[in-house]
Amino acid sequence: MRSSRPLVQYASQAALGWELMETQDRLIWRDGAFIPWPDATVHVLAQSLQRGTLAFDFMSVHATPKGPAIMRLPEHTARLLETCRIMGIPIACGKDDLNRACVETVRRNPGATALKISALIPSIEVELVPQDARVSVFIAAYDSQADIIARNPGQAYTPKTLKLRVERQVRNRRKDIVPPQAKVAANYSGPAFAKWRARREGFDEILLLNESGTVAESTTSNLFAVIDGALATPGDENVLLGITRASIMELGDASGIPCAKRSLRVADLLAADEVFLTSTSKAVFPVRQIDETRIGEGTPGPITRRLADRFERIATGRDPGFAHWLTLCTNP
Ligand SMILES: Cc1ncc(COP(=O)(O)O)c(C=O)c1O
Repeated sequence: MRSSRPLVQYASQAALGWELMETQDRLIWRDGAFIPWPDATVHVLAQSLQRGTLAFDFMSVHATPKGPAIMRLPEHTARLLETCRIMGIPIACGKDDLNRACVETVRRNPGATALKISALIPSIEVELVPQDARVSVFIAAYDSQADIIARNPGQAYTPKTLKLRVERQVRNRRKDIVPPQAKVAANYSGPAFAKWRARREGFDEILLLNESGTVAESTTSNLFAVIDGALATPGDENVLLGITRASIMELGDASGIPCAKRSLRVADLLAADEVFLTSTSKAVFPVRQIDETRIGEGTPGPITRRLADRFERIATGRDPGFAHWLTLCTNP
């Protein structure tokens, strides 16, 4: 029987009983100062909008017994800086500035459950090479449900388990075009259109393959298979280095579940006992079907459930063994 809620469902601000804040009252950090939500705009001709050169990272914020906390903040800001380094985006902020700004943004936006940093080139340019390459950094803390989905109900797409289609037209991000380790807007356009096609065909999500035909990742998540009681995930070379992926590998280790990074074929997944995706927004997300094949029993398997439960306890501050993954944002 299928469960009635996702395995890990981060609570929205209303469910947490947090003070509700009107979206227009939210404050967005821009280059060192807070500005009102409606003012956080860029020109339609901005270089990053026209050329896809926006670097970004996305974090989750949780209600813990000690107050709101960001999950794995330093790892996320380090990845944003790594994206900028790979792409050559000349960001001026360092990691300490970014970490401080993220904490302050959560403090100034009560009830936020999501945190997004964007580093972009706002200048209007005629050439590919920007004459004014100053990078603006925006940090927004909000609640996806109250601030975005409720204002546009068409966005409320909430399957409990996933039906994946193996994508055979669009290959995963190729390192000789834009390396998959860069979380940059340009890297998402091919997968976004491919996922859109899959949705029209009745699938929830796509599975991207490498040029060699082996499994890479999904559009915005990494993939794990459970094979003979052990976890397997594709190697680092062809995927975004997901922070949840790293967390799940560490949790597997701590829970006595062996985990290997290795090449996986689609056939390995179809024969696996369990398959799940990992991402900041969905944590551990079970896959029930790939193409026309049911995975395992078609319901979340025992290892998936165990890891999902532990991850949720950690994120919500109820597992002292992993308290160091959380950065508290209480007022000083
Ligand atoms: C391409 C891609 N892979 C994997 C992930 C999962 O990464 P994380 O667990 O850090 O959210 C994301 C997250 O957005 C992504 O965009």
